[in-house]
Amino acid sequence: MSHSYSDQKIINPSANSSFAEIVEARLSRRGLLKTGAALAVLNTLPLPLAGCASGLKREGTIGFKGVPVSTADAVVVPEGYSATVLYAWGDPIGHPSGSPAFKQDATNTAAEQALQAGMHHDGIHYFPLPYGSDSPGHGLLAMNHEYTDDGLLHPDGYANWSAEKVRKSQNAHGVSVVEVRQEGGRWQVVRPSKYARRVTAATPIGISGPAAGAAAMRTAADPTGALALGTFNDCAHGYTPWGTYLTCEENWDAYFANSGKVTPDHQRQGIRPGGRGYRWEEFDERFDAGKHPNEPNRFGWVVEIDPYDPQARPVKRTALGRFSHEGAWPALARDGRVVVYLGDDRAFEYIYKFVSRDPWNRGDRMANRDLLDRGALYVAKFREDGSGEWVELGHGRNGLTAQAGFENQADVLIRTRQAADTVGATRMDRPEWIAVHPGTNEVYCTLTNNTGRGAAKMAGVDKANPRPNNVFGHIIRWREDGNDPAALAFKWDIFALAGDPRHPDAERRGNIKGDAFGSPDGLWFDDGGILWIQTDVSTSTLNKGHYERLGNNMMLAADVKTGEIRRFLTGPRGCEVTGVIMTPDSRTMFVNIQHPGESPAERSDPKEPKAVGSWPDGAAGGRPRSATVVIRKNDGGIVGT
Ligand code: FEO
Ligand code: CA
Ligand code: CA
Repeated sequence: MSHSYSDQKIINPSANSSFAEIVEARLSRRGLLKTGAALAVLNTLPLPLAGCASGLKREGTIGFKGVPVSTADAVVVPEGYSATVLYAWGDPIGHPSGSPAFKQDATNTAAEQALQAGMHHDGIHYFPLPYGSDSPGHGLLAMNHEYTDDGLLHPDGYANWSAEKVRKSQNAHGVSVVEVRQEGGRWQVVRPSKYARRVTAATPIGISGPAAGAAAMRTAADPTGALALGTFNDCAHGYTPWGTYLTCEENWDAYFANSGKVTPDHQRQGIRPGGRGYRWEEFDERFDAGKHPNEPNRFGWVVEIDPYDPQARPVKRTALGRFSHEGAWPALARDGRVVVYLGDDRAFEYIYKFVSRDPWNRGDRMANRDLLDRGALYVAKFREDGSGEWVELGHGRNGLTAQAGFENQADVLIRTRQAADTVGATRMDRPEWIAVHPGTNEVYCTLTNNTGRGAAKMAGVDKANPRPNNVFGHIIRWREDGNDPAALAFKWDIFALAGDPRHPDAERRGNIKGDAFGSPDGLWFDDGGILWIQTDVSTSTLNKGHYERLGNNMMLAADVKTGEIRRFLTGPRGCEVTGVIMTPDSRTMFVNIQHPGESPAERSDPKEPKAVGSWPDGAAGGRPRSATVVIRKNDGGIVGT
């Protein structure tokens, strides 16, 4: 989601006393796993292997000719590459019950939308078919549909707002699972497919882990506190070694209004009395937090989905904490426990990791179905000397006691942000994606931007967040002690300060070795160790002001050994480039183009749906559409090299 950085709502502004004065910049499942065939080989999944000396499946060196910045309404890739659209908003998923075609005038009904691709594609993952194989030409794509532009979703936008429009918006959110296959050199969605599935803002989703059933999770509609309806504003992706998809609820607070009492937690989560324009509460009362004060507690979680079993109920895993989850990225501890890195994408929020209590069971997929329900959640402290510490958010530890307002572990998890405040975690410049190097286990995290840094009454700079009014963002990295993802101490430095080398203000030029960019967001390592960086410059900022020379949003490749960063792709007008994954042979890359043609207001004028752009359908289309793009080398070679 592109947040206007000037409008980014800061809900954790208070200065951290230990960092405030420092101005020097340091550079330096449940019901999930039923498929018998699925229980076979798990070793081939692309998970980092802790302690592996080389670790890499192959050595990757950047080998393409970089592309210039662009303001064209097109996806531009390097010479020798092609980019083709595979799956756009409104395309039928191929559900056996029906395949309604997309109508370019947006007259598809809410029921039809539930059988079509949602809007605003984001994080994406490829699951080979059959399960446990390394198939490079047949698999499942699971992807998020982060939010909606209701100016494009309905023929007349917000006019004549109705229950049907709310349902259509809810059905355009959530997750797609589609079967894809390469035939004759061309990728296609398989229709119909027994795997085709949409999870929407209305899908029943279980709640498990320590907060399940807690009083604060119960509502009038769900006295058990263990069954929520829906997931929405799912941002970046995640996956597990046992072949499930993790989708992450980010700006979920934007969907709630509050006609009654605003509780301290509503405030800390950013819920505004009047909502943020989705208007679901007008026809679906549970989105009025004044009337249903516990309903917001059922959002802000990581949701586990089994793409291989369309009947399996998704599950919210509360042990991973509640905040604006960007994504969930796995690593394996030396002893086989599963570590999940987590970012809270709000200004001055925190970086977390979860460490499972039990090791991953490599040979018995079923044994892992509730692995993410038991374990410890930690939050990061970045010290000024380049060291860092993971502080456990466990009830009774580190000051998280009843006297401090935390009654039990459910309470700590439901109010994860307040727990992290209590232990004095380091307030970061909007943590977005996290990527773990498949050979070294070194961890990289995008800190997209934070214009509030150093402003009056806001936290000042510190060495991990070294620039005031940080309009361009940076990428931080750390190495866990002993290269063990489960370690509780680490060393960190800054990989790159983004910026424009031609910017008149020296502090905003950054230190990129290579092509310029700003507002890094998506971040992913391929099997060769190339780090892919995607940008999300707000549409209110693209091509103007500080960003006037940087063009449309883009994707770049970084060689983390040399530090070189080279621009690989530029997106169409108004878009954000987000979500990237490759097939196991690294010869097909899937990239999501989100909100092409978005206006600076982030909601389109239904009378002029193509005012900013018309990608991908161009003149033949009625409106721009988010889409998954297939990128291949024309000679069939490994992408990026
Ligand atoms: Fe949905 Fe933090 O980007
Ligand atoms: Ca973003
Ligand atoms: Ca993002």
